[in-house]
Amino acid sequence: MKIFGKHYQTIWETDKEVSSVSIIDQRWLPHKFQIVELKKFDDFVRAIKEMWVRGAPLIGVTSAYSLYFALKGTDETNFDRVFEEASKKILETRPTAVNIKYSLDIIARKVSANMTLNEKKQIILDTARNLCREDVENCKKIGEFGFELIHEIYRKKGDSVKIMTHCNAGWLATIDYGTALAPVYFAKERALPVFVWVSETRPRNQGAKLTAFELLHEGIPHSIISDNAAGYLMQKGMVDLVIVGSDRTTLDGDVANKIGTYLKALAAKDNSVPFYVAVPSSSIDFEMENGSANIPIEQRDASEVKYISGLYNEEIVDVLVCPEESEAVNYAFDVTPSRLVDGLITERGICKPNRESLLKLFPEKKI
Ligand code: MRU
Repeated sequence: MKIFGKHYQTIWETDKEVSSVSIIDQRWLPHKFQIVELKKFDDFVRAIKEMWVRGAPLIGVTSAYSLYFALKGTDETNFDRVFEEASKKILETRPTAVNIKYSLDIIARKVSANMTLNEKKQIILDTARNLCREDVENCKKIGEFGFELIHEIYRKKGDSVKIMTHCNAGWLATIDYGTALAPVYFAKERALPVFVWVSETRPRNQGAKLTAFELLHEGIPHSIISDNAAGYLMQKGMVDLVIVGSDRTTLDGDVANKIGTYLKALAAKDNSVPFYVAVPSSSIDFEMENGSANIPIEQRDASEVKYISGLYNEEIVDVLVCPEESEAVNYAFDVTPSRLVDGLITERGICKPNRESLLKLFPEKKI
C-alpha cells in the first residue's frame, strides 16, 4: 500500500546478494518513517521481540528470513545445531502468533539431509520469498471475500458502511494489503463508501498509531476512539460490522487477537453487530483446539502499560501515566470464544468458526 503516494511492502531484500533485509521500523510510526536494515540474526530476533516489525503474518515472514541469516555463515559441521538453536530462539520471541511456527515448520519440511549445504541455504531463502508472495496473495483473497460482506451491508443500507476494527490488522501487520483492512481497501478501490472506527488499542496503541496512519495515507475516512467507547457506539447503532485480525485461531474457531478483542466481541453479540475475523491459514493452528485453555498468551513488560509514547516538541518521548511505584501487568492478547464469532474470512472463503467448516475449506489439514 502507499505512504505519501509511494508503494511499499513491510519487508524486502535490500540488494540482489541479500546482504540485508529492509523493514519499516514500526516503533516510530506515525511520527517518523524510518527504514532499517537487518544484517545479522540477532538484529532479526530483536526486531521481532521489540516490535520493530509486528503483526502475525509479518513476524511469520520475518522469522523465515531470520533463520536464513542464522544459517548463512554456517558450514556442514554446525548447520544442524544452529538450525535447531536459532529456531528455538525465534519461536520464543513472540509466543502467541502461530505464524512463526508455521514458517519454521515449512522450512524444516523442505530442508532434507541429502541436500548440499548450499542447496539447504538456498531452499530456506526461496521459502522466505514464497511465504512473502503467499501472504500478499492470501491477503488479496481475504480482501475479495470480505468485500462481499461489506457490499451486502451496503446493498441493504444504501449508505456508508461503518466498520470497527481493533489493533492493526492492515498492511503494516502483513506484507501488503492486510487481513482485516484488506476488505476496506477493496471497498475504497471500488468506490463503495466505508468509514472505519479505529480503537486506539492500549497499551501499544497500534490502532491510533498504525491503523490510523494506513487509512490516512489511503484516503479512507475514519475516527479514532478510546478502547472503552466501542460498546457505546455499538449500542447506539453506529457500527455495521466488526472485522479484526487474529494471531492464532484454533481448529474449533477460538480466536486469539490483541487484548481487548474479546470485549468487542461481547459487545457485538449483545448488540447484534456481525463480528468477523480475517484470518489467513498461516494464522490457523490446525493442531490446537480450546483456545482459552491452550493458546500461549504473551505477557510483555509492564512499562508498556505504565508509559505512553508519543510526540512532544517534535521528539518521540515516553510519558509516565500512573504512580511510578504502582505495579502493572501486560497481557498482550486475549481469546475470543468461537460462539462470539460470526465468521472467519480466509483466503479460501468465509466459513463458520468450527472444525467442520474449517476442514471443508482446508481438507488437506485433516489428520
Ligand atoms: O502485538 P502485535 O502488534 O503484533 O499484534 C497484532 C495483532 O494483534 C493483529 O491484530 C494480528 O496480528 C492480526 S494481523 C494481521
